[in-house]
Amino acid sequence: MNDSTQMNMETGSGSGSTEPSESVVSPATWKNGALIRLRQITRIYQEGSLEVLALRGVDLDVEEGEFSALAGPSGSGKTTLLNIIGVLDHPTSGRAEVAGRDIGQLQKGEAADFRLSHVGFIFQAYNLVPVLTAYENAEFTLLLRGVPPQERRDRVMPLLERVGLADMADRKPHELSGGQQQRVAVVRALATQPAIILADEPTANLDSDTSAGLLDLMQVLNEELRTTFLFSTHDPVVIGRARRVIRLLDGRVTGSETAAAD
Ligand SMILES: Nc1ncnc2c1ncn2[C@@H]1O[C@H](COP(=O)(O)OP(=O)(O)OP(=O)(O)O)[C@@H](O)[C@H]1O
Ligand SMILES: [Mg+2]
Repeated sequence: MNDSTQMNMETGSGSGSTEPSESVVSPATWKNGALIRLRQITRIYQEGSLEVLALRGVDLDVEEGEFSALAGPSGSGKTTLLNIIGVLDHPTSGRAEVAGRDIGQLQKGEAADFRLSHVGFIFQAYNLVPVLTAYENAEFTLLLRGVPPQERRDRVMPLLERVGLADMADRKPHELSGGQQQRVAVVRALATQPAIILADEPTANLDSDTSAGLLDLMQVLNEELRTTFLFSTHDPVVIGRARRVIRLLDGRVTGSETAAAD
């Protein structure tokens, strides 16, 4: 289990509050700036007496509505960067703002509320709870936010329908294929209508058809709901689907290319 999984599970156990947190930020406060604004972000891991420089001064702006890929070889810092943006981890130095909020300043409970209100995660390993059904997994973040049962159903069922899983809502994860589990994770990430969805190698465990289906779904949601997507990948096919590709190498952003409009 890696850091992000641990911290995500920690979020899952809640911050002691099931109240929806409306107070964290009002959208108006960040309309003037980028949704994600990173300045000189470093992350140094201490490995015994050795320092691992996972991020070496990242500057990055991501605007609302982007559909962007973080691309780079293994070890280049993609997961570290997504974890910092999602407040699963803190930078060693630098300033990180998400939705107008200086996320480096968030206390533990505030960070959990912030994630719950603004960020949806799709991890490579799905992180579905094995004893819960697809529906229960999908409604999980709404439950943590204290959303009443009928409203949870009204939000989750159309999304499950949308991803073609309405008739599998009662199945447990082990009764679903990898691609179906991944779609449950997408519904869970979308159910709270977060401003941003962070996806760490979302297609890594999927065959090419299922990957293409997931990307189609993400793209439609991006276009229809204007949900911002930032996903890491080293798959050239996935990179080809992004409207902007941000290249990472050795903990630095080495370039950013925007695809020509089609
Ligand atoms: N908890 C940790 N402790 C020590 N070093 C770490 C830790 N997490 C990551 N690293 C190191 O930081 C660097 C960046 O790792 P990261 O996981 O962000 O890379 P990545 O681009 O996501 O790679 P991959 O494509 O293999 O998932 C690597 O050198 C990695 O070994
Ligand atoms: Mg990674």
